Amino acid sequence: MENTLVIVKPDGVERGLLGEILSRFERRGLKIVEGRLGVIDKETAQAHYQEHVGKDFFDDLVSFITRSPSFVCIVQGPEGTFKIVRDMMGTTNPKSAPSGTIRGDFGTDISENLIHGSDSLESASREIGIFFPK
Ligand code: RTP
Ligand code: MG
Repeated sequence: MENTLVIVKPDGVERGLLGEILSRFERRGLKIVEGRLGVIDKETAQAHYQEHVGKDFFDDLVSFITRSPSFVCIVQGPEGTFKIVRDMMGTTNPKSAPSGTIRGDFGTDISENLIHGSDSLESASREIGIFFPK
């Protein structure tokens, strides 16, 4: 089995889309094996998004992800689960995300794009270590 980290971001929770989004993963056959609703603190957000430190959108990204509760969870499935989740999310900018994807069905704004999913097996392992340390 493979685990990947998913975050339903503040906009998704604020808009009441948490159930809808989790339900898509469940209907696909993936399992939510651990999860927590809460406000992500600034230090954790900066560690999570460390690859983007120094980019012009970094401060806005950290402010956004820490502004209200997110649902952070571990999604489990077969080999390649991180890719299944990324495909279900759609492209980073919801404006160009295809209908049928989470971002394509529910968003139009690159900042408020509803969901995070690890972009590789290595990222999944690093991010799970940040949010769910053993
Ligand atoms: P995420 O990490 O949140 O799952 O999103 P992602 O892999 O699809 O995109 P990534 O490149 O990792 O960027 C992280 C978040 O930063 C915001 N962003 N803004 N203004 C911009 O050009 C820009 N580029 C990225 C997005 O909100 C993206 O989700
Ligand atoms: Mg990313």
